[in-house]
Amino acid sequence: MEELSRRDALRIGGALGALGALGAASSAQARPLWTWSAQGSVAGAGAGADPRWVWDPEADELVASLLDRGDVPRVNALLRSWTRNDQPLPGELPADLRDFVERARQLPPWVDHGKLARSFDFTRRRGLYLGVLYAMASGMMSTVIPKEARAVYYSYGGANMKDRIAKTAKLGYDIGTHNAYAPDGEMTVTCVKTRLVHAAVRHLLPQSPQWNQAAPEDIPISQADIMVTWHSLATTVMQKLTEWEVPIPVEDSDAYLHSWQVTAHMLGVSDEYIPASWNEADKQAEQVLHPILEPTPEGKDLADILLGLGAELDGSVLSRPLLGAFTRYVLGDQIADWLEIPREPVFDPMLQTFWRPFIAAREVGLHFPGSDETYWLFEEVLRKVVLVYLSEGQPINIEIPQVNRPS
Ligand code: HEM
Repeated sequence: MEELSRRDALRIGGALGALGALGAASSAQARPLWTWSAQGSVAGAGAGADPRWVWDPEADELVASLLDRGDVPRVNALLRSWTRNDQPLPGELPADLRDFVERARQLPPWVDHGKLARSFDFTRRRGLYLGVLYAMASGMMSTVIPKEARAVYYSYGGANMKDRIAKTAKLGYDIGTHNAYAPDGEMTVTCVKTRLVHAAVRHLLPQSPQWNQAAPEDIPISQADIMVTWHSLATTVMQKLTEWEVPIPVEDSDAYLHSWQVTAHMLGVSDEYIPASWNEADKQAEQVLHPILEPTPEGKDLADILLGLGAELDGSVLSRPLLGAFTRYVLGDQIADWLEIPREPVFDPMLQTFWRPFIAAREVGLHFPGSDETYWLFEEVLRKVVLVYLSEGQPINIEIPQVNRPS
């Protein structure tokens, strides 16, 4: 079982590892009211605006203007060399963009670098589970989050999922690095660029006839939508680890939460919508994530592409059945059936029987001298190889799109 998990599940898991970030929320009519109290947020209080109707006004106005005045190709080219958190911005950037980025790159006043360091340590020790869960729980879940699936499908990146995943995987990779938000790290830059991309999508998708026909909303990627996706990542991963009885000291789970809280802030979410504790995160997810999950034609298509990517990665005919079985195991029969994932006579019972004992055994193994470093090394190499492969050897640049899906 260990062989199976390492060679297949993790390799493919790493590939899809940051996919949870592929989108958010439900059909407008089906969405429950937002009643989660800001008292449970990192801000501790809030103005009370419903985040389903809050977007990112400053970034949205700026990027709409960049698109309208034809500045985006020049800006993308200039920002390509801006990669490190502490790096000065290229001198030739338009002044309004420069002012925005200088503000957007500031970490929140409540950032705790001790917790971020602990979060890295947690990721280092738990990389195998995180890789599997980001891919098989968060990534596949994103395909049954209707608004996310439609936004991803009809936006520019929807036509080239491999490239799209490589870019999203960059965020998943950067958040797990030891210096993510440190001066020499890259996560701040990744978040700010993503914020700009999301702003562009808000401007562009409403011009897509296909998106307009499919999506019952006027402007995509509200702050509530971002939190839905956040829960499909952070909250779902923590819930699964708990369900699998992986022992996690409270300092670790707090630290992991903190790295995602900082990430939400850096993606432009107001502090009043960011849960202050796992308990509050669970409550928010119960309200905004679980009730909205449902299949869409776009989501089914995306899921099919994602399950096929595994075989592209390792050339194995077993990849698709294995990924399908993992999806069924992690997300349950209803979601697997929605996605028309066939039942697997070998892998389904295997996972049911062996996955939990494998975890239990691995937990014992973790305490053997040197074993956790070995696991980390293995996972790290795989994650990097996968990123290189997905980007076809090219550096991964998150760039502002200028058009919607071309076909
Ligand atoms: C782009 C992460 C929420 C839809 C991106 C990118 C990243 C990312 C890293 C850049 C990759 C690229 O340019 O292809 C995240 C994270 C989220 C989040 C971490 C929440 C925690 C959402 C939501 C939606 C969404 C809620 C839609 C409802 C998109 C779309 C693109 C994008 C459509 C651009 C695709 C393209 O045109 O190529 N996101 N995202 N994201 N995201 Fe998000």
